[in-house]
Amino acid sequence: MTRTLISGGLVVTAAEEVLADVLVEDDKIAALAAPGSSCAQGWTADRTLDATGKYVLPGGVDAHTHFEMPFGGTVASDTFETGTRAAAWGGTTTIVDFAVQTRGRSLREGLDAWHAKAGGRCAVDYAFHMILSDVHEGTLKEMDQLVADGVSSFKLFMAYPGVLYSDDGQILRAMQRASGNGGLIMMHAENGIAIDVLVEQALAAGRTDPRHHGEVRKALLEAEATHRAIQLARVAGSPLYVVHVSAEEAVAELTQARDKGLPVFGETCPQYLFLSTDNLAEPGFEGAKYVCSTPLRPREHQAALWRGLRTDDLQVVSTDHCPFCFSGQKELGRGDFSKIPNGLPGVENRMDLLHQAVLDGHISRRRWVEIACTAPARMFGLAPRKGTITPGADADVVVYDPHAEQTISARTHHMNVDYSAYEGKRITGQVETVLCRGETVIDRRTFTGRAGHGRFVPRSTCQYLS
Ligand code: URP
Ligand code: ZN
Ligand code: ZN
Ligand code: ZN
Repeated sequence: MTRTLISGGLVVTAAEEVLADVLVEDDKIAALAAPGSSCAQGWTADRTLDATGKYVLPGGVDAHTHFEMPFGGTVASDTFETGTRAAAWGGTTTIVDFAVQTRGRSLREGLDAWHAKAGGRCAVDYAFHMILSDVHEGTLKEMDQLVADGVSSFKLFMAYPGVLYSDDGQILRAMQRASGNGGLIMMHAENGIAIDVLVEQALAAGRTDPRHHGEVRKALLEAEATHRAIQLARVAGSPLYVVHVSAEEAVAELTQARDKGLPVFGETCPQYLFLSTDNLAEPGFEGAKYVCSTPLRPREHQAALWRGLRTDDLQVVSTDHCPFCFSGQKELGRGDFSKIPNGLPGVENRMDLLHQAVLDGHISRRRWVEIACTAPARMFGLAPRKGTITPGADADVVVYDPHAEQTISARTHHMNVDYSAYEGKRITGQVETVLCRGETVIDRRTFTGRAGHGRFVPRSTCQYLS
């Protein structure tokens, strides 16, 4: 057995902050004890990590990534190897990626393809959601088997007609199935039929720049779809998790549903909290770097997102990491914003940006850990192994230096993408050391992990409902 003692740090969980020594035995958290009492407890360690003056956090859980995803005529630029390595650098030890059902193919084929991409390549642990793009009787039956195999959440799209889109009837059927098998329906809530009309009209009028991506994908059309998804889920008697919420009006729909006691949950992403339509309007096609869907909103929307995170009307911050290089990928949409591949990089930046949000007074330190680690683990059936520091949990631990100063830059990040959405942003706080199941994957800011350490984690069902 290998024993590691993490001594003298402030252990921060969603529930408490306590100065404690943490004992790791092999791949599990074995015990917590008052600082300096390890000798009295009879603990002997093979090595000690001194965390004095640092935070000791559960490893981050990023429940929304797209590594190697074919999208918009190209493929997201991070592989499972580069993406999970970057995740480790940023203090994230579990990612949940989206396997995609191809139209005309089974869920199983899609899932197998994602297992083939990820197997043996990940630096940190991984799990999958399944994107449904072809809902019919066969798909519905397969959902039951996937839940049993630990893939217990299914994303549907009200956007992207002709590509990933499902109509209301298909959505209702999938929700009915999920209400019977314990699956969680995740919704991309934008009215894609209406948006496509506005896209066509904008392009016909010569409005082709990246900023028009934000103008046609209206906040009202996000709110409308969010409302419709909630009503469909009520009819089906299923829970609902709305992904990448960006509009104030959509938060209001979630708040209203939750105030009725409905099992409706919401996620937002750092890009909606820190970036805005000002970025989309950057001159010289620079705005393409910020094209994602739902789109960035005017800065005024951010207050509602922060409030939602504080009031628990939004539960999770994931990245929706879906990187495309500016050169050769984002450039596909020069002269036609609708051809810019949708997605932003960020898997490496999430924990740091949210720590800055603690310092800026938006959220508490415990809420930081909750929205980035504990809530996503519980939402997607990864607890109690993931998302907190407690005896018996996986030893996924981050030693975080709250005083280190850094400047985010593509020159120093580890994601396989040629720009940073947060270029030049100054952050106080930095990941120092990261354990993933007891193995040191980042050692005082040196990568010591390896492709293949990360394992597939089968998930149980949503733990917000039981
Ligand atoms: O622009 C985005 N969000 N790209 C990834 C796909 C999705 O809809 O989540
Ligand atoms: Zn989406
Ligand atoms: Zn409320
Ligand atoms: Zn996504």
